[in-house]
Amino acid sequence: MEYLFKIFRYDPLEDEHPYFQDFFFETKEKKSLLEALMEIRNEQDSTLAFRYSCREAICGSCAMVFNGNFDLACRIELQALESSTIVIEPLPNLEIQKDLVVDMEPFWEALSQIKPYLYPDKKIQEEGHRIEEKEMEKIFQYINCIMCGCCYSVCPVVSRDERYLGAAALAKLYRFVKDPRDKRPFSHLLGVNTEGGVWGCDTIFKCNEVCPKEVRPADGIEALRRKLVVEKIKRIFGFRR
Ligand code: FES
Repeated sequence: MEYLFKIFRYDPLEDEHPYFQDFFFETKEKKSLLEALMEIRNEQDSTLAFRYSCREAICGSCAMVFNGNFDLACRIELQALESSTIVIEPLPNLEIQKDLVVDMEPFWEALSQIKPYLYPDKKIQEEGHRIEEKEMEKIFQYINCIMCGCCYSVCPVVSRDERYLGAAALAKLYRFVKDPRDKRPFSHLLGVNTEGGVWGCDTIFKCNEVCPKEVRPADGIEALRRKLVVEKIKRIFGFRR
C-alpha cells in the first residue's frame, strides 16, 4: 500500500512561514503512524522533528493531529485509515518548537497550579488508608490520563483565554478531590472557582471526544462545579466552616 504524507514543517529559526511537505511511503506490513514517521525520518529526511518515547500509548508524547483527528501516533494503524493521503499537523494551542514538536510548558504550568498530588491528613500518613474497590472505581477514569495534551489543544477556551487551565488539569484536580485519602482544605478549590478554572469551560465536550484514554475530562469539570456549589451552600447555611 502506498501513502502520501503531507507533513507540517516549520523551523522558527529558519523558515519565514510554515508549509506542508509531501512524502511518499510504501509498506506491505502493518505499521503505526508513528512507525511510518520514523521510517520517513530515517530514510527520507533526518531533519523531521516529532516526539515519542514508549510507542505503546502510555507516555502521551506522540500526540498530534492527522486528517483533523487528535490522537497518539503510536496507536493509529495506517491500514485502518480511510484515506491513503495523511495530513499531519502539530497540536494547536501550543507554540511550535519545530515541525510536530510543540512547547508543552503552558500545559505543565496549568497542571502545577492545581497541586496534583495527594493531601493525606496526619492519621492517614501514619496509619495508611485501604481504598475499597468501589472508591477506586470512581477515580479510575481520571487516573487513566497520560497527559498527552490532546484535550488542551482541542479546547476553544484555551485558544482564546490564557487564564483557562484546561481540561486535563481540572480533571486531574477532581481525581485527587474524589480520592478518599485526599484531605486538602476547601480553600485549595477556590483557586479553580473562577473563569480561569471550572467556570471557564464552554461544555462543548471536545475534550471528551478526543481523549485517547476515554478519561472524559469534562465529566470531572462538571463534578467539580457541583462540588463547589454544594460546599458553598453548606458554608452559607452554616453546615460547614
Ligand atoms: Fe508514548 Fe505514543 S510514544 S504514547
